[in-house]
Amino acid sequence: MQLTHNGIFISVEGIEGAGKSSAMLTITNWLKDKGISITTTREPGGTKIAEEIRQLILSHNEENIHFITELLLFFAARSQNIHNCILPALKSGNAVIADRFIDATFAYQQGGRGISEETISILEKLVLNDLKPDLTILLDVTVDTGMARIKNRAELNKQQPDRIEQEKLDFFTNVRNCYLQRAEKFNDRIVIVDANQSLQDVNKQLETILSKKLSKYFAK
Ligand SMILES: Nc1ncnc2c1ncn2[C@@H]1O[C@H](COP(=O)(O)OP(=O)(O)O)[C@@H](O)[C@H]1O
Ligand SMILES: [Mg+2]
Repeated sequence: MQLTHNGIFISVEGIEGAGKSSAMLTITNWLKDKGISITTTREPGGTKIAEEIRQLILSHNEENIHFITELLLFFAARSQNIHNCILPALKSGNAVIADRFIDATFAYQQGGRGISEETISILEKLVLNDLKPDLTILLDVTVDTGMARIKNRAELNKQQPDRIEQEKLDFFTNVRNCYLQRAEKFNDRIVIVDANQSLQDVNKQLETILSKKLSKYFAK
């Protein structure tokens, strides 16, 4: 099947344990079934340099990372991801699916760290220019459920929480609320999925949203 537009850009958002990685698979399979070529990416990350910046952001370090440094590192990684992964893939007509994008910065750095929306918007303009996702899926889960899921996942994979996963409940509550406020503000782009439900029910919601929101991109 051909896309009528030059590429589609989909971002997947939500707090830790919301089910983003699981949703990425469902969305990828749904689009592949339609014969669409896919590029997947994640933030921070998506290119070699951006993945190196990811390591810096997420690893534990003796030296404290100032919240403005953290903000700039996220945008530095995003700039690489945009210019060396997302834009070339969209240009070649692919559907790009990103595990987190700009809304995560507002949710975590504004909601979580308390940086003003105006400050983040300046960097958004500089780094994104006019790029924005065509569709953003916000997997909304209660903080308790999200945390319980990552605890299970960490035990299964024998992993320690990264620098951001180890934040307190209040931090994630603020992040979740900021995500929900953005979904209300940009309700033409961001669609909320109730991610407290079973994986099967979440997948059903995803498929309904994809059919409804993406049909205009497919040639008959
Ligand atoms: N709807 C769901 N119900 C129950 N468990 C889920 C659901 N979605 C994801 N999980 C499980 O919870 C853990 C976190 O999901 P994951 O997709 O890795 O979340 P994220 O990428 O948002 O951090 C994984 O072990 C996953 O299998
Ligand atoms: Mg994930």
